[in-house]
Amino acid sequence: MNLFEVYPLNGLEIVKGSGSVVWDSVGNSYLDLYGGHAVISIGHSHPHYIARITEQLNKIGFYSNSVIIKGQEELAAKLGRISRKDNFSLFLCSSGAEANENALKLASFHTGRRHIIAFKNSFHGRTSLAVSVTDNPAIQAPINENPHVTFVGLEDTGALEEAFMSHEVCAVIIEGIQGVGGIHVASDSFLQKMRSLCDAHGAVFIADGVQCGYGRSGKFFSHDHSGVLADIYSVAKGMGNGFPVGGILVAPHIKPKYGLLGTTFGGNHLACAASLAVLEVIEQENLLVNAAVTGEWLITELKKFPGIKEVRGRGLMIGVEMDEDASALRNTLLKKHRIFTGGANKKSILRLLPSLALSRKDAALFLEVFKEMLATRYVHQ
Ligand SMILES: Cc1ncc(COP(=O)(O)O)c(C=O)c1O
Repeated sequence: MNLFEVYPLNGLEIVKGSGSVVWDSVGNSYLDLYGGHAVISIGHSHPHYIARITEQLNKIGFYSNSVIIKGQEELAAKLGRISRKDNFSLFLCSSGAEANENALKLASFHTGRRHIIAFKNSFHGRTSLAVSVTDNPAIQAPINENPHVTFVGLEDTGALEEAFMSHEVCAVIIEGIQGVGGIHVASDSFLQKMRSLCDAHGAVFIADGVQCGYGRSGKFFSHDHSGVLADIYSVAKGMGNGFPVGGILVAPHIKPKYGLLGTTFGGNHLACAASLAVLEVIEQENLLVNAAVTGEWLITELKKFPGIKEVRGRGLMIGVEMDEDASALRNTLLKKHRIFTGGANKKSILRLLPSLALSRKDAALFLEVFKEMLATRYVHQ
């Protein structure tokens, strides 16, 4: 059987990782500023992470949600404390799309409504509801067409108000920093406006923290920078540092009911062990502070470089927009300088999504290489 080819590959086989470095099958090492698409939060193959998962695997790897799983309670308590959402409750699943799917469904159960406001340039996943609030018709199959979604421009307060006036709104879903859309930061005032509109109209505020959450922006949720509290936060990616796990954090006024949500794999023993290891390392190594400080330094330095149209982002979620297609630039970084970076929907953008433990030395190495490349207008390899 062949693979169902949906992914354009870069030709590398990555076989090993440690911290911010990965190795290919012929022994070349690469600086990883992409983190396998914002997934590697604490660094590749962190010893504590390996030990925690191994220890769990030696006891039991899986049992269903029909039994008590202590790791879930431990995870909810720790996540509540570190994210400062102590009075929220946690529902666990296995991916970002599934988290958003459950967030939207829960908002609809809670309000009895169905109209969703989402934003232009957004990405929320590929399952049916999540993709219907994603602003990309190319990945929506005819069956995903949803007449109950209004897309408004990020920062377009007028359009947001109008959407609230025209519909009985169930929920608004927003990435604090748009990722796939090219690193666009929602302003604090826009998030505050959205909160007050949700309050005035009885709609649910869903904060998609799948990519911009879990410490990446230097605060636990990028939405936290605005001082706004959402009703539901979705998480995945960095939560398991590669182990497939996701979840939603649900505000106390949204009540659970047996059978309302469910999944086979969500919150299994291994997923909990992986997620707990991630939070333990985030805390022990002070990674939110590292993301804030190293990220700010990178952004400040990159803004000084000539030949860049714009540098956007917060913490270690950074977008560098060039005047032209950045594919050749990214390819030269990868093939010649052995540095992984990410792309975005728009080809002119280069995305940096490294581990939250990225060292100053590794950040400096990238800056040095990048500066030199811009000076010589990156020679193709
Ligand atoms: C903001 C955001 N939400 C949701 C998702 C979907 O996550 P997953 O691919 O785990 O389903 C992504 C994935 O890139 C994302 O960036």
